[in-house]
Amino acid sequence: MPAIVVLGAQWGDEGKGKATDLLATTEKIDFVVRTSGGHNAGHTIVVNGEKFATHLLPSGILTPGCTAVIGNGVVVSPEALFRELDALAGRGVDVSRLVVSADAHVIASYHQTIDKVTERFLGKNKVGTTGRGIGPAYADKVARVGIRVADLFDEEILHDKIEGSLDVKNQVLAKVYNRRAVSVDAVVDELLAYVDRLRPLVADTSLLLNQALDRGDTVLFEGAQATMLDVDHGTYPFVTSSNAVAGGVCTGAGIGPTRIDRVIGVIKAYTTRVGSGPFPTELFDEDGERLWKIGGEVGVSTGRDRRCGWYDAVIARYASRVNGLTDLFLTKLDVLSSWEKVPVCVAYDVDGVHHEEMPMTQTEFHHARPVYEHLDGWWEDISACRTFGALPANAQAYVRALEEMSGTPIWGVGVGPGREQILSVPR
Ligand code: GDP
Ligand code: IMO
Ligand code: MG
Repeated sequence: MPAIVVLGAQWGDEGKGKATDLLATTEKIDFVVRTSGGHNAGHTIVVNGEKFATHLLPSGILTPGCTAVIGNGVVVSPEALFRELDALAGRGVDVSRLVVSADAHVIASYHQTIDKVTERFLGKNKVGTTGRGIGPAYADKVARVGIRVADLFDEEILHDKIEGSLDVKNQVLAKVYNRRAVSVDAVVDELLAYVDRLRPLVADTSLLLNQALDRGDTVLFEGAQATMLDVDHGTYPFVTSSNAVAGGVCTGAGIGPTRIDRVIGVIKAYTTRVGSGPFPTELFDEDGERLWKIGGEVGVSTGRDRRCGWYDAVIARYASRVNGLTDLFLTKLDVLSSWEKVPVCVAYDVDGVHHEEMPMTQTEFHHARPVYEHLDGWWEDISACRTFGALPANAQAYVRALEEMSGTPIWGVGVGPGREQILSVPR
């Protein structure tokens, strides 16, 4: 299996870090690659009880012998990059095997400023972004006024590009947002400060990865964000600004679709979401509070509480379809122990009309009311189970029911945050 994609099937925080780490440590993975998003991600890996979180870096940085790659589709804040590298190095992690695409776009401090003022300006309509400058950096990329990593190596070009990029922004900052204009020289200096450290990391990562695949190396593409946060296929406009679906891997890494052998969708046994936007199975009652508490549902990047709700099979089917999932990895099944009945959303009622698939329009999705099937729960603590057969019968039936509803085989089940807390599902 030379090219494997791991991505989020819901609204993020499904346990992609854990799934990636699991594959990187159990199969021989040569490269772990990020292809979209930036340091808005927060991926948790628990190794021998010790917790690590990666944001911009691929989780593979924690696996000895694995090369971590930041692909061209990622937006890179040099400040965040070196802060994260230094923090991991300080904990004894070997961070020497990192490669960054010369074509990746750069997040400078002004992107973060614009992210924050735009959100404030939106008021109650805000997206609830992570405030990391992700959207403004992607907006510049598409508007063709972005700064790319390679631009940092030519001071004259860098100056010209930043000047061009700030031309209109400074007018908007001053006249619309009542903010001080950003100095071109200050931004040039801010970015040049990272050049010496950045230079040895930079490469043509598309060439590197295609050559690796030609050699028969195994490459793991670690998704960030998730299907429902994808700018095309998610709950627009309450989304991130990149393509988090499987298709984004090709553009974000510079590999062809025919290269990809396996697409794993990571999905929680219930649902969470951070930030604004529609969420049909969201709970506002004691059950929601219990999921939040037992699941420890607090964001890794921003520390915000995650909104919690029941599993949504309509979304699982949708994620299977738009990503061409070959399998699912179901996480956090352990959190569901102690419910008499576990509701699962099997369809939506949209103003009296029954929908088994995602409604076509945003308005319909905002009106979607979940139609629940109530599956039998279980009481046992399952966190020590290591085989599927060791799970209580109702927990096994829950997994099989989800598999049936999504139409995609479940390859593995997580029963705790640890690397070893996983079981494979017999076919
Ligand atoms: P990611 O962004 O998709 O990598 O996910 P996050 O790291 O943001 O959030 C997932 C959280 O669930 C982390 O705290 C993980 O340690 C934890 N986790 C992952 N798998 C399991 C599981 O099977 N059971 C439990 N209880 N926690 C898990
Ligand atoms: P991982 O990879 C959960 C959400 C934000 C906000 C929206 C847009 O850990 O699953 P942005 O800063 O990207 O412009 O914010 O997307 N968001 C995430 N939610 N997990 C993430 O990453 C997220 N990355 C962005 O909360 O609603
Ligand atoms: Mg996360």
